Amino acid sequence: MALRLHPHASACGKVILLGEHSVVHGYPALAAGLSDGIALEANALPNATDTMTLAIPEWDLDLSLTADSEHPVARACHEVLTHCDGPVTGWSIRGRSRIPSRAGLGSSAALTVALARLALGEDAEHGEVVAASLAGERVFHGQPSGIDSHVAAAGGVLQFIRGRDPEPVPLREPLRLLVMPSGVPRSTADQVAKVSDRLKRLPALARPALELLGAAVREGRTALERADYSRLGEIMDISHETLSGLGVSSRVLDELCADARDGGALGAKLTGAGGGGCCIALPPEHTSIALDALLARGIEPFEVEVSP
Ligand code: PMV
Repeated sequence: MALRLHPHASACGKVILLGEHSVVHGYPALAAGLSDGIALEANALPNATDTMTLAIPEWDLDLSLTADSEHPVARACHEVLTHCDGPVTGWSIRGRSRIPSRAGLGSSAALTVALARLALGEDAEHGEVVAASLAGERVFHGQPSGIDSHVAAAGGVLQFIRGRDPEPVPLREPLRLLVMPSGVPRSTADQVAKVSDRLKRLPALARPALELLGAAVREGRTALERADYSRLGEIMDISHETLSGLGVSSRVLDELCADARDGGALGAKLTGAGGGGCCIALPPEHTSIALDALLARGIEPFEVEVSP
C-alpha cells in the first residue's frame, strides 16, 4: 500500500452537449468536460492511523472517510482509495468546486477522478484513473455508463456510443457555455423510464424523436468542429424541443432556455436527464448572454469553458 497522497489533483465536471436520452437507446451523444470541476488538496495528519477526512464546503461535505460510513460519498471515496492501493487513513483532503453537486454536472465523477489522481499522481494513465473512478461511481450509480468518468479525466469533448470507447472530438478553440442550474432536483432513473415508457406506448412518434436527437449529434459535431456556433445553437434549440416532446423538460427548464435566448444566446437546451437539473446556453462570439431575467428568477448561472 502507498503511504502517501500527492498534494494536489483536479478533474473536470461535465455537461451533455447533445444526445441525452437517445444515447440510452444506442444513438451517439456528445459530452464536454468543464474545466475547474474540482481541485483537491491533501495534507498529512499527525498520525498515519488518524481517520481520513474530506471537506468540500461548496457541496456541504465534511466527512470521515471510512468503509462502513452511512454516507455514500465516504464509501465511494474509500472504494477509490482502496482500488488505487492508496492510504485509507492519515490524510485530510480539502476540495474546492465551481460546479453544484447532484445537478447532472458530473460532480461525483469529478470527485472520484481527482481522488484517484491524489493517490496515483496527476500523470497517471487515463484508463487506470477511469477504472479507479468507476469503483467509486458504482457506489452512487450501480452500473454507470462511464461517460462521466471519461470526461472528468480527459476534458474536452467526447463522442460516446454505448458499449464503445469514447472518441475525442477536436475543437478549434475553447467552447464557452453558460450553465443554468434550475435548483430543481431530478432523478435520472425516473426520466429515463419516462422516455422508455413513451417509446413503448407511442413508438411511431417517440422513435423518430430519438432518431432526430441522434441526427442532431451528427450535425452538431460537424458544426462544433467547424466552430459554426450559430448552426450549433440552432441544433441545441431543436434538441431541446425534441426532448420536451419526449416529456423530459419542464416549465422551469423551458423558461430558463427562453430567458437565455432572449438574452442573446445562439441556442439553449436542457442538459442531462431533465425534469430538473441544469440547462446550457451558447453565448454569442466575443460577448456574453444578458443575465438579468435569469438572475431575477433567483438562479445563479455561470459561464464555463471547455478546453480543446
Ligand atoms: O443528468 P445525468 O448526468 O444523470 O445524465 C443522464 C443522461 C441520460 O442520457 C438521460 C441517461 C444516461 O444514462 O445516459
